[in-house]
Amino acid sequence: MDFSLTPEHELIRESAYRFGQQEIVPGLAERDRAHQSDRASLDKMAASGLLGVSIPAKYGGMDTDYISLGIVCEELERADTSARVVMSVHSGLHSLTILQWGTAEQKARWLPGLAEGAAIGAFALTEPNAGSDAINIRTRARRDGDSYVLNGEKTWISLSDYADQFLVVAVTDPEAKSKAAGMSAFIVDRSLKGFHSKAIKGKLGVRAGNTGSVLFEDVRVPAENRLGEEGDGFKIAMSALDHGRYTVASGAVGIVAACLDACNRYARERKVSGEEIGRKQLVQQMIANMVAGRDIGRLLYYQVGWMKNAGLRHTREVSLAKWQNCNFAFQAAHDAVEIHGAYGYCDEFPVERYFRNSRGAMIYEGTREIHTLMQAEYELGYRADKPLARMLPRWPFGQEA
Ligand code: CAA
Repeated sequence: MDFSLTPEHELIRESAYRFGQQEIVPGLAERDRAHQSDRASLDKMAASGLLGVSIPAKYGGMDTDYISLGIVCEELERADTSARVVMSVHSGLHSLTILQWGTAEQKARWLPGLAEGAAIGAFALTEPNAGSDAINIRTRARRDGDSYVLNGEKTWISLSDYADQFLVVAVTDPEAKSKAAGMSAFIVDRSLKGFHSKAIKGKLGVRAGNTGSVLFEDVRVPAENRLGEEGDGFKIAMSALDHGRYTVASGAVGIVAACLDACNRYARERKVSGEEIGRKQLVQQMIANMVAGRDIGRLLYYQVGWMKNAGLRHTREVSLAKWQNCNFAFQAAHDAVEIHGAYGYCDEFPVERYFRNSRGAMIYEGTREIHTLMQAEYELGYRADKPLARMLPRWPFGQEA
């Protein structure tokens, strides 16, 4: 076993960290307070090359391995969750899913634009009445000649107002032998007639990020935009979540790291009766728990990155990493507020933002209840991961990519 990161990993960590601190953090507290997302940050991410991480060079990507994507997510979320969310939806849920399921023509058509950030991608599965219960989505895609006509509503869609193209899962055959077999996946352009998006206001966290609903009113999507075969839609959605959950799991470690950054500083500055509060054992206990969360969390997501590199199915492992790392992040943020006392309760310090942001990640991309049930089902033998018809290409990328 080799646990070491390569010099390339260290380099990408350093550049993602620098990008987060220099391009995301300035003005963040004000944007977060004003519930204001920043479209310009997407252009900056594109210019830095980050949107091409883990995409093969032949499609204009950085050709880095999948562990690098996790490292980028960790360092971006150390700055703010909104930046990591961009990687989750654009790179994880959208681009990697095209890399996994697209035909040679589809990959050549979409991946270069996505890798350079000329086009921003997003993911649309959830509906007002189907979140965890993804099997019961109602958005309908009716075949009509050389196209499909889409009608329905998706909600809680990150980058709903900014993305140029959406990976949309819809019902193509309501009479199929199983609900999963009746779904298909499409790449839908926002420029198509009948496409609308609307931002969601009043979120508890990730206030500097854009989230909303998208509506399809007789949107005519060319048949060549269907990803996979008719009936593959649910599997494509679930494998997209294997990639998205990886980015959430790695990003959660960034929240723990950010809590440590803030608490290390505060615990050594703040004095009680002339003594740094870092000397107090109850404060030390909270710091020690954060260290454990950061280091265990890294092991969990590095393992998933390694499995992606090796071309192995990793649905169980990524569910475990997402579930546990989000718990670590929430506990760390809770304790970071505690360590800062009353100062932790206002936005003069960043820890109240970490606390609000970390709560959302326990809901999206599989609630903690869904992941708890999945882990128990794997253990009891009610659930098992079989090799898939289309796997993500292993790294280093060869002909199969
Ligand atoms: N990859 C490929 N195929 C998969 C798969 C995966 N990871 N997981 C399951 N499948 C396949 C199965 O093999 C099965 O196919 P066969 O019938 O041919 O064997 C089919 O899909 C059905 O799978 P399951 O029987 O496992 O389906 P289920 O109904 O038991 O799944 C569930 C239940 C695990 C709870 C699932 O519905 C689930 O994960 N729900 C949560 C949905 C979720 O995370 N939503 C978040 C949306 S994104 C978001 O949050 C917003 C954002 O923008 C960030």
